[in-house]
Amino acid sequence: MRPVRKAIFPVGGLGTRFLPATKAMPKEMLPVVDKPLIQYAVEEARAAGIEQFIFVTGRGKSAIEDHFDHSSELQATLLDRGKADLWESVRSITLEAGQVAYTRQPEPLGLGHAVWCARSLIGDEPFAVLLADDLILAERPCLKQMIDAHAEVGGSMLAVMDVPKEHTSRYGIVASPKLGGQIVEVSGLVEKPKTEEAPSTLAVIGRYILDPGVFDHLGAQQRGAGNEIQLTDAMAKLIGQSPFHGLRFEGERFDCGDKVGFIEANLAFALKRADLGPAVREILGKYTAG
Ligand code: G1P
Repeated sequence: MRPVRKAIFPVGGLGTRFLPATKAMPKEMLPVVDKPLIQYAVEEARAAGIEQFIFVTGRGKSAIEDHFDHSSELQATLLDRGKADLWESVRSITLEAGQVAYTRQPEPLGLGHAVWCARSLIGDEPFAVLLADDLILAERPCLKQMIDAHAEVGGSMLAVMDVPKEHTSRYGIVASPKLGGQIVEVSGLVEKPKTEEAPSTLAVIGRYILDPGVFDHLGAQQRGAGNEIQLTDAMAKLIGQSPFHGLRFEGERFDCGDKVGFIEANLAFALKRADLGPAVREILGKYTAG
């Protein structure tokens, strides 16, 4: 089994749902407590053993490159001031020389197109895709859970989660001959089906391990739901060619592409922190009492 060494982070989206906050700032830089969303995704990938970090960016996204770059002046100043903790928090973000690549998606043509833009940086090996909007709080990082399961079954693997029937139209939805259990065999995939046409209530969450054969299908540049080039449609064509599974991961997922989900993530992450939890619990009490 070939190891999963490379991960793609599609960060070219416009972030219209968070305007005006995202007018001049990438949506992936929105902080949950004190860390930008994209940093959580990168840290999850790193904890899962990923060695190459590939960002598919677009116009106005240079803050992401700066965030993961070495920052000599800031680091020197923090050291001078004896702020060792802050120095470490800044130093540890840096992606080392040769570990990181940025490529551009010239037009926002969809998630499938964004992934396809990274094809020559991936080559012919299995790879991961992480969507920073999906923030996952888990004891064992979600991608690590997937990589461990993938080592047993190979092929392609998606993070999946049961959702209420009325939410199926927001997601890629899995069809399977046997929907139970932690590892689910995938027999079909539909992107954002109408509720009454959804093959199940098992939704794809933004973590993928994909067979490189998906690039052949993405290369056809076929438009799907919302007139976009959908990753889901290209993945559906892999089914039957190589093993394809979903993993019901352990952990809690927050939809940070949505305002309420984003606020919930901030509360959940703050409440878990020893330095902030008690104070946040107290103010929550103040706002929810009576
Ligand atoms: C994307 C995928 C969809 C998946 C979702 C998970 O949709 O196209 O299949 O279920 O991410 O968050 P988006 O939310 O970008 O519209």
